Amino acid sequence: MVKSVTNNREHWQSKCGFILASAGSAVGLGNFWRFSYLAGMNGGAAFVLVYLASVLLIGIPLMIAEFLIGKLTGLSIVSAFRKISGNRKLWVGLGLIGIVASFVTLGYYAVIGGWVMNYLGQSLSGNLPTDSNTAVFDFKLLSTTPALQIIWYTLFSLVVAGIVSRGVRAGIEKYNRILMLMFLALLAIMAVYALTLSGARDALSFLFKFDLSKITPMVTLLAVGHTFFSLSLGAGIMITYGSYLPKKITLPFASVVISVIDSLVALLAGIVIFSIVFSFGLLPDSGAGIAFVTLPPLFAAMPGGAWLAAIFFFMLAAVAITSAVSILEVVATYLMDEWGVNRKISTWGSAIAIYCFGLIWTANDIELVDRIAGGYLVVLGALAVSLLIGWTVPLNSLAKILQTRINHPMLRGFYLLNRYLIPVALIALLLGGTL
Ligand code: PHE
Repeated sequence: MVKSVTNNREHWQSKCGFILASAGSAVGLGNFWRFSYLAGMNGGAAFVLVYLASVLLIGIPLMIAEFLIGKLTGLSIVSAFRKISGNRKLWVGLGLIGIVASFVTLGYYAVIGGWVMNYLGQSLSGNLPTDSNTAVFDFKLLSTTPALQIIWYTLFSLVVAGIVSRGVRAGIEKYNRILMLMFLALLAIMAVYALTLSGARDALSFLFKFDLSKITPMVTLLAVGHTFFSLSLGAGIMITYGSYLPKKITLPFASVVISVIDSLVALLAGIVIFSIVFSFGLLPDSGAGIAFVTLPPLFAAMPGGAWLAAIFFFMLAAVAITSAVSILEVVATYLMDEWGVNRKISTWGSAIAIYCFGLIWTANDIELVDRIAGGYLVVLGALAVSLLIGWTVPLNSLAKILQTRINHPMLRGFYLLNRYLIPVALIALLLGGTL
């Protein structure tokens, strides 16, 4: 039987702070850059429908599972796996997947964060490309000039490490609160504005006019894979954030709220991006460059476009920072929990190591590493989490921590999902190999 622990770890100041921080982790470049290009290239509404179903059936139960592991042990991923499994090597090794996934993901995520900073800088100084040829050229120049990327990449990494080094309350919670509230307000304004554009109707039907025949195995695999990326699952993040939870909190409710915020943001971001794209009569399938190549010249052609562009890239920068903070926190907490290193040293030590590793992606193909880390590694990590919950934690411990009775149908469902359905789905996903 695993006992819940109270160590002298920092805790969130408020539930709202915890929800905003977790939503801050989930909402990120994934919602803008990844969701829109995946939906754009994979039949729009078909992708959206499978994605939403997978959030409900796999995403939410796994998020509950991650929070539960963190709350139950009060520890980050590797130490938590060690504790729950009774120090079994296999499980400790599986926990390490989360650390590797976080390490690798942050390396390239911060490079894209740097691109966002670059475009924010350009939009504030009125230097965004005004025609599509220049936009293609500018993006190529940026993504193939390491020196240019390194400036912005360094700035982005410093901001992220600076926040994490301040700790849970004074750093992570405080800055998530500020950045997320600003972000949500700006997104609401942008979405209302987007709905007034001539392309809004097409954008809505592209995202919501479901055509079941467009749901292919490939679309399904991509949509399920993206669920993990978007909800920050499989990299130990929600375990770490769950380890700072106070006693009284309903995990299923919190997980639903966070997932709803994340999905709503993805849909609203989709409405903003595709309304603009369709207003100019363009096709939605331009791929990974949609936010950086397709949009800038369109902004330039819109009334008040300089402002819109600045707001858009500020929003992207805000959510990229809050997500990157959560990824760095996983690696930093690993050093704190496993090696007893203090926060300042563990944060800057892991930030520097990840920074050096990430430099590779200023000169190499990001889509490839995104497939490996953002695809395979997080799915593997998520598989480890569901197996740990489904096969090593006794049902009565689960009931206790979820504050429910042992024969509650929801608890049974949650248990069976983690024990059978989710592992089978994830193994199929890994074997399907098209992440
Ligand atoms: N969920 C975040 C996003 O959507 C980023 C992230 C990805 C965080 C993978 C952790 C793991 O951008």
